[in-house]
Amino acid sequence: MTMNDTFLKACRAEPTDYTPIWMMRQAGRYLPEYQKVRGKVTFLELCKSPELCVEVTLQPIDILHMDAAILFSDILIPMEAMGLRLEFHEGKGPVFPDTVRDKAAVDSLMIPEPNETMGFVMETIKLLRKELKVPLIGFAGAPFTCATYLIEGGSSKVFWETKKMMFTAPELFHKLMQKITACTSAYLVAQAHAGAQALQIFDSWAGILAPCDFREFALPYVKRIIADLQPTKLPIIYFANNGATLLDYSVDSGADVIGLDWRINIGDAIRRVGNKAVQGNIDPFALLLPKDKLRARIKRLLEDATDAKGHIFNLGHGIHQFTPPEQAKIAVDAVHELSQR
Ligand code: CP3
Repeated sequence: MTMNDTFLKACRAEPTDYTPIWMMRQAGRYLPEYQKVRGKVTFLELCKSPELCVEVTLQPIDILHMDAAILFSDILIPMEAMGLRLEFHEGKGPVFPDTVRDKAAVDSLMIPEPNETMGFVMETIKLLRKELKVPLIGFAGAPFTCATYLIEGGSSKVFWETKKMMFTAPELFHKLMQKITACTSAYLVAQAHAGAQALQIFDSWAGILAPCDFREFALPYVKRIIADLQPTKLPIIYFANNGATLLDYSVDSGADVIGLDWRINIGDAIRRVGNKAVQGNIDPFALLLPKDKLRARIKRLLEDATDAKGHIFNLGHGIHQFTPPEQAKIAVDAVHELSQR
């Protein structure tokens, strides 16, 4: 079967016939087909069933014609493999009942062997590569973003405990980051060996940091992971949400592709990232615009991005669970049609 490698070409800043598109969180609750699968199992059971993961990963490719697939899993799966209890509570999201806030908790974290502890992820990747006609993206959370969940015990708005550890126990914070980093590098290398064709690092909470703290407490670990991934030769995407003020540092991460949220004009970002490819960056809620306005907005974004060395169209963050799938389809079709060269 012929492979659509437009996405990989754009990652490598090579010319493409059109602008490829995928959407962060494209396999998820906005699709009734996902809801149907999810109705029978818990979220964690879904993550640990390769057959079901394959099914929901393929849904946005088959239904919406995305140009890349992203492995169905969660950034917190490897945190569970480090030895922590992980729960997902309906309507509340992830919960770590045993928070990581002191030396004993950091010391007791394991650096898991990914194939032994997360074999279901590697199995999913292998199965997907037999089915897919578009490239498969593997992923992990960035250490800082993962650390916030462990320290806070779940999602947070103010990140009091995280910043408290950063500012009052920096050595402990760095030790935690080193352990998460070692786990993440090994996990992503294993995904590459299993067959992932690009790797994305999600830094959902990087934007809560002052630039000086990002540089001291978060960026060095992203750099370490990207350096560890060099032997795989896969394109690496680094997405720092709310990261416009950190853009110069993100470029310094060593990633091939810089993910952009919607808070920056893509043309302005492209002028700052030099030779790197960019991914983004329409406001996920703009998918609610009426068809003609949505198409016009996409056209403008594509025009703003014409000087990019490579452009992968995406949302500026994950697709919202109440987005009508027909609206996502309008966006995919518009990008394909309006970007033809
Ligand atoms: O992109 C994809 O389609 C692949 C699958 C994927 C999921 N989570 C599935 C998921 C990916 C790439 C993620 C990444 C992830 N997980 C991030 C980084 C991206 C971002 O959104 O900032 C974060 C911070 C998490 C942690 C997480 N997982 C939270 C905070 C939640 C609860 C909030 C929510 O959206 O429900 C999850 C649960 C989750 N992960 C769901 C899905 C489809 C919903 C679970 C369900 O079906 O009930």
